[in-house]
Amino acid sequence: MEIRVLPLPEERKKTKYTDESQLGFGKLFTDRMLVAEWKAGQGWVDARIEPYAPFSLDPACMVFHYAQEIFEGLKAYRWEDGTITLFRPEMNARRFNRSAARMCMPEVPEELFLDGIARLVSLEREWIPSSPGTSLYIRPTMIAVEPMLGVKPSNHFYFYAILSPVGAYYAAGFNPVSILVEDKYVRAVPGGTGEVKTGANYAASLKSGLEAKEKGYDQVLWLDGVERRYIEEVGAMNMFFAYDDRIVTAPLAGTILPGITRQSVLLLAQELGYKVEERQIDVDVLMAEIKEGKVTEAFGSGTAAVITPVGKLCYKDECVQVGSGGVGCITQKLYDTLCGIQTGKLPDTFGWLRKID
Ligand code: PLP
Ligand code: COI
Repeated sequence: MEIRVLPLPEERKKTKYTDESQLGFGKLFTDRMLVAEWKAGQGWVDARIEPYAPFSLDPACMVFHYAQEIFEGLKAYRWEDGTITLFRPEMNARRFNRSAARMCMPEVPEELFLDGIARLVSLEREWIPSSPGTSLYIRPTMIAVEPMLGVKPSNHFYFYAILSPVGAYYAAGFNPVSILVEDKYVRAVPGGTGEVKTGANYAASLKSGLEAKEKGYDQVLWLDGVERRYIEEVGAMNMFFAYDDRIVTAPLAGTILPGITRQSVLLLAQELGYKVEERQIDVDVLMAEIKEGKVTEAFGSGTAAVITPVGKLCYKDECVQVGSGGVGCITQKLYDTLCGIQTGKLPDTFGWLRKID
């Protein structure tokens, strides 16, 4: 499919950031965006890269009322020698289309997703930061734009991708966060939308996140929605617990996001000589094992969060420190290895990187 590149007038160019240490997460956006439309009876039409600008949308658009929306998150990295790479973008393309199928939205041809993003990143290469811990975050999105108040799948969609130069997702950077295990609200139930990346999952989590913040915690750890007993995931990352040289994470059973970082960590950990287990984790057992010192480390994994150490876990008013409360050895090793591969400092033995021309 042809992707037109529209001119970027000089006056539409934004002033670039000057201090990479102040980027934060998702606050700045680059000069251009990728857009394509899908119309019933026509399929995908008019793919283009155009100057970044607000959309003009009818207030009746279905996305505003019934949240028919999906998104993805991936990153581009600038190496010291100027090489630009994407990390496993085809995994995001596939997950995006699984989300689309669940949300009754059209699949985006992988070629449009991958080539469109590669060309957009290439055009916007000057925006990619290069200091440690920074990258260009890519946010592919699809929204329902048919103006219609009946509840049914839309007949018109926009697919678009925007770019944001970012630093660490959590303000504390690569430092341990404190996590509250949520025992009042639930995020997902079997048969629901927990395993797809749709905005409504995140809207439904806001209340819990806010209440946790008010109590002084950084993040919420969700339990399964039926028994409220088994560990699921955190709002923007999958969770891992280390027992000496063994790393345990919750299984993919339909209610958590199948994280691309999660899958990469499972492979990397095995390559580094750790044992890995995907199994149900009972929260009461976990809390006891942390207290007994059997759980030596905890960390989360995600595109935005990379590898985030967890220093403290609280459940039903009981707080326990995980290991030393600092950054554990395995957490550090996995962080260094993953970032090393992404930034070209370590060999890409799994063939995960896609170079951008
Ligand atoms: N779980 C949730 C709910 C997320 O939003 C994310 C972020 O994308 C993840 C897990 C981690 O997924 P990934 O590693 O693919 O970024
Ligand atoms: C990502 O890590 O890409 C995510 O989508 C998390 C996001 C909610 C910030």
